[in-house]
Amino acid sequence: MRIGVFCSGGDAPGMNACVRAVVRSALGVGHEVVGILRGYHGLLAEEFFINARGEPLMSLRSVSNLSKLGGTILHSSRSDEFRTESGRKRSAAILKKHKIDALIPIGGDGTFNGAVALARHWDGQIIGCPGTIDNDLMGTDYTIGFATAVETAVEAVDKLRDTADSHERMFLVEVMGRHSGYIALFTALAAGAEVVCIPETQTDIREIIDHLKELKKRGKSSIMIVVAEGDELGGADILNRDLLEAGCPFPTRVVTLGHLQRGGSPAPADRILASRLGDFAVRSLLAGHTGMMAGQLHGKLTLTPFPEIYSTHKPLPEGYLKLLETMAS
Ligand code: F6P
Repeated sequence: MRIGVFCSGGDAPGMNACVRAVVRSALGVGHEVVGILRGYHGLLAEEFFINARGEPLMSLRSVSNLSKLGGTILHSSRSDEFRTESGRKRSAAILKKHKIDALIPIGGDGTFNGAVALARHWDGQIIGCPGTIDNDLMGTDYTIGFATAVETAVEAVDKLRDTADSHERMFLVEVMGRHSGYIALFTALAAGAEVVCIPETQTDIREIIDHLKELKKRGKSSIMIVVAEGDELGGADILNRDLLEAGCPFPTRVVTLGHLQRGGSPAPADRILASRLGDFAVRSLLAGHTGMMAGQLHGKLTLTPFPEIYSTHKPLPEGYLKLLETMAS
């Protein structure tokens, strides 16, 4: 079997470890792997990873020492042409031309949505791996990249706390998560933030101000608020403005972590998850499965049909918000 592997959408730490797992697992049992560069965009441009022998195939050596590398050696992108029907038809023709029998896309909801659309024109098998820092996909407890992104954000909040303490200030730290509060909630809990603002809950300015005044009365001199970029009121800048207008009792500063959270050497948890899922994706293809994402639920490897992955908003784990409230009060 000839398997095409690619990364699509926002990069995530651990994507490389997943590519390595796909290559090692497939080659180990006598199959071939084509590395498609730049996601769906690169597929349409017929851009492939070229190995040391000059062939458009990935070798065992082409993924040496890859687990510890952030980003993705296959590059990633978002493709406008692939969003069109003609783009998807052309992609299917290109896959046939290069005799690719199966695909392992590594990405998020947009990537798998694209895989479903492609499958209407192509009869090859597709098994996806969840690669996104947002952890916003059903069918897996954690996505590849989430653990590292949280680690990076926690390190930043810890450092900012030092300055907040020294100057008796409040920091609003904006983290990524377009539609999801996972990174914000986990960061807030791990870093001991006083407040978290996320799209899953109503952000109430009055309530936050009352809470801040109460904390100040009790002698608290530094405050950390973690804001998900997707909060329904807007990002940290807007929230800062609203809080100041409503009488915030602390001087404030805003820090947006942005793409910093997507880089860096993957945490061990991401490397292990990526290795398990990459290997499982290959084994699932060989067992004849298609149209599904490989995931890990309660420690067990699972397959979930693509539409189920992105059609429901992934709920936050039970009790985490309440725990944060208890810790911060
Ligand atoms: O989906 C991953 C993500 O990092 C989101 O958290 C963020 O909103 C988005 O990608 C940013 O995308 P881009 O790299 O295109 O700016």
